Amino acid sequence: MNATTAAQAADIVAALLFIFSLAGLSQHRTSRAGVAYGIGGMALALVATVVAAAQDIPGSTVVLIAAATAVGGAVGLWRARRVEMTQMPELIAVLHSLVGLAAVLVGWNSYYEVEAHGAAQTRVAPDLLGIHHAEVFIGIFIGAVTFTGSIVAFLKLSARIKSRPLTLPGKNALNLGALVAFVALTVWFTVSPDLGLMIAVTVLALALGWHLVVSIGGGDMPVVVSMLNSYSGWAAAAAGFLLNNNLLIVTGALVGSSGAYLSYVMCRAMNRSFLSVIAGGFGAPAPSSGDVEQGEHRETSADETAELLENATSVIITPGYGMAVAQAQHPVAELTQALRRRGVQVRFGVHPVAGRLPGHMNVLLAEARVPYDVVLEMDEINDDFGDTTVVLVIGANDTVNPAAEEDPTSPIAGMPVLRVWEAENVVVFKRSMSSGYAGVQNPLFFRENSRMLFGDAKESVDAILRSLSTPEPGSAASRGLRTDQQPAPA
Ligand code: TAP
Repeated sequence: MNATTAAQAADIVAALLFIFSLAGLSQHRTSRAGVAYGIGGMALALVATVVAAAQDIPGSTVVLIAAATAVGGAVGLWRARRVEMTQMPELIAVLHSLVGLAAVLVGWNSYYEVEAHGAAQTRVAPDLLGIHHAEVFIGIFIGAVTFTGSIVAFLKLSARIKSRPLTLPGKNALNLGALVAFVALTVWFTVSPDLGLMIAVTVLALALGWHLVVSIGGGDMPVVVSMLNSYSGWAAAAAGFLLNNNLLIVTGALVGSSGAYLSYVMCRAMNRSFLSVIAGGFGAPAPSSGDVEQGEHRETSADETAELLENATSVIITPGYGMAVAQAQHPVAELTQALRRRGVQVRFGVHPVAGRLPGHMNVLLAEARVPYDVVLEMDEINDDFGDTTVVLVIGANDTVNPAAEEDPTSPIAGMPVLRVWEAENVVVFKRSMSSGYAGVQNPLFFRENSRMLFGDAKESVDAILRSLSTPEPGSAASRGLRTDQQPAPA
């Protein structure tokens, strides 16, 4: 077996490992194995690619490739070890932008290779030159859209720019016009390739990527991230055609189709139109309320909340992004235990997009060892709020916003939410009256049965634990300790 055949065999094994990886990642139980398959497949793919290329390139280039791989691997390891769970979506957005940029560079390189040497001296057959030109154009277009789209997603997710949608006049016509221009330029370039057209398609796609994502509201960002994941897959597949690399084509198609399917599933879960999201918020209503307050809000204290909880028969906790920021999951778990020991029924209601990544709240609650059987999904608990004495909204905002159901002009109209306002009492833990991720004010805060408990969520829950009237012997509260001075509850 020569090096080329060995590399082809390795490609097939790597492609199978990627398929096993995707299958493993679809369930909690098998997700670790899924990650291991992915790492194995990628390591094999890298080695096979370098071994196959080593026959045609000088040794010094192989050394350069190995050095670039080592530097890239080290940066990846460093970032992965430092990243906070709450920053994961923005890290993913940055990584997608790099895939997009790589596809743009591969396209430009491929254009120059054929221009400089003529088709005869490259692996492009002269009668397939037109197809090659179209591949260059499509690769650059998808790559550049992914590049700027992912950068805007990163800026929005990391709150460096506002998450509210930008609504330019005639934005749908602009998007459609850009697509029509792309098709026309592709036909022109296929017939008569030219540097000016290359520059034109790159600028057009960079602008379109920026506009598509900047016009999407915060509430739709989870779908956008998975959509950009899909675009990055198609960009990689396009680069695979240009580089004549079958593994890149297969891997890109796997990422592209699984990302598109995930976006579709998320759109269904959030009652959003798939087409509307990929077309940059097509038909989405104009942003409304923002931070404008909608009446009087009432405040409460940790002592009052503790009293309310002690007299409750049933409590539902709906955690959100603020619980992750405050790292309040450990005191929340201790509060759950303390109330359960007092005979109060305590359950959690978890919204599918609470936090900043799928399953974010479940991971935090599992880390704090909250029993799985009291952690319920939105659909499992939404009909029970009417029979609940107290709901604790801990750092959640958009996912408990009644405007989604009651205000058809709201940017989050139609998104299913936890119906916390149906409970007898609602206590909202947050630091201020500011809006949630989608930039929409929340009428829940101004309802008769709602009370605001201002402050960092962890400090507020700690204070409630200290206030509970009969602290159990040996508990953190009985010794006046903060919960971060205690081991996680068993
Ligand atoms: P958000 O709507 O993001 O609201 C979080 C709230 O937490 C804010 O109103 C903030 O208010 C409060 N907060 C922040 N730090 C806090 C702290 N230390 N202590 C107490 N409160 C704190 O939360 P959500 O209900 O979880 O909704 C998630 C949003 O993110 C949705 O719009 C969703 O579409 C979007 N999103 C989700 C994902 C996924 S896949 N889950 C990915 C990207 C985006 P203050 O500043 O006043 O404290």
